[in-house]
Amino acid sequence: VPLAAMNTFGVAARAARLVRVHSQLDVRQLVDHPEFGIAPKLILGGGSNLLLTGDPRQLVVKVEIQGLRVVRDDPDATIIEAGAGVSWHELVRWSLAQGHAGLENLALIPGTVGAAPVQNIGAYGLELAERFHALDAVDLTTGRVVTLDATACRFGYRDSLFKHELAGKSVITQVRLRLPKPWVPRIGYADLERHFAKLGVAAPDAQQIFDAVCAIRRSKLPDPAVLGNAGSFFKNPVVNRTIRNEILEDFPEIVSYPLEDGSYKLAAAWMIEACGWKGRELGRAAVDARHALVLVNRGGASGKEIKALAEAVQQAVRQKFGITLEFEPLVV
Ligand code: EPU
Repeated sequence: VPLAAMNTFGVAARAARLVRVHSQLDVRQLVDHPEFGIAPKLILGGGSNLLLTGDPRQLVVKVEIQGLRVVRDDPDATIIEAGAGVSWHELVRWSLAQGHAGLENLALIPGTVGAAPVQNIGAYGLELAERFHALDAVDLTTGRVVTLDATACRFGYRDSLFKHELAGKSVITQVRLRLPKPWVPRIGYADLERHFAKLGVAAPDAQQIFDAVCAIRRSKLPDPAVLGNAGSFFKNPVVNRTIRNEILEDFPEIVSYPLEDGSYKLAAAWMIEACGWKGRELGRAAVDARHALVLVNRGGASGKEIKALAEAVQQAVRQKFGITLEFEPLVV
C-alpha cells in the first residue's frame, strides 16, 4: 500500500500490510486476530507528525473512527466527544458552529483528533491539555478498553504517556473535550495581540479568534497540501535560568519565554535562523523560508534526506548554542 498520501511530508514509502479501523470494535477484533493480534503496529492518524525514513515493517493501523457529538451540556462546561479519525480542524469548526467556543486557538492544526493527545497539540496560547476531559483507548495487548483522564495522560509540552510507556501499545478511539463556561477569550499570544491591534478589535469573539488564527497560520506556515511538511520539526528547548542567562550573554537578542516553574522556553526558530539555516536546502529537503522551525519536502525528497537535513540543523544549533534540539515528529 503506498503511503505518500498518508503522511503530510508526502514521502513515498510502502506499507507491506495496512488495516483500516472504523470503530472501537474493529480495534478489539484486530487484537483478537490470530496473526495481526501479535504483530508490531504503527498507528496512523493524519500522518502529520511522522517522518518515514523507509518502508515501515510494522502492520500499519489507519484509524478512521468517525463521530462528533455533545455528550453533556452542564452550566459550567460542555463536554464534546469525537472519534479518533475525525480531522482535528473539522472538530474545531464543528464545535464553534454548534455554539460551543473554546477550541478556536487550535484552529487549522493538521492531523486527527486521536493524534492530538499524543503530542498534546498546542498553538496561539492554548494547549489541548487545558481543554481535555478524557479519552478511550484499546490496549493492544489485552484488547481491553481503558478510559484515561488528563492526569493519567501525563501531558507535558508536546508530550504525553502515549510518547513513552504507551507508545505503540494502544489505540485511542474517542476523545472527550471539556469547554468551560463562561467562555473566556485567549488573546495574549504576541501574534494574536498584533493581529487584533491592527484590526482595531478590542474584544474579539470566538469566531474572530478562529479567523485570526487561520489567517496567521496561513501567512507563516506552509500548507502541507502544497508543500510537504510536518509543522514544527523541532520542539522549543526548555532550559533552566542559569543556562538561559549564559546564552543571553552571548546572544542578547535571543527570543525566550519564562515558564511557571522558573525555567525558560527558547525559540528554536530563532536559533536556527541565527545559524543561517532558514530557507537553506539540502538535497530535495529544505528549511522553510518563512518559518525556520518547519522542514519541507521540495518535491520527491526521501525520508532519509529530510532526516539528514534535520540532523544538519541540529548539529549547527548544538555547535553555536550548546543545545540539542529534539525532533517533534515520530521518525520511523
Ligand atoms: N522566529 C524566528 N524565525 C522564524 C520563525 C520564528 O526567529 O523563522 C521567532 C519569532 O520571532 C518568535 C518566535 O520565534 O518570536 C516564536 O515563533 P512562533 O510564534 O511562530 O512560534 P514557535 O515557537 O516557533 C510554536 C509551535 C507551533 C505553533 C506556534 C504558535 C512548537 C514546537 N511549535 O512555534 O506549533 O503553531 O508556536 O503558537 O512549540 C507545530 O507544533 O507543528 C506547530 C506549528
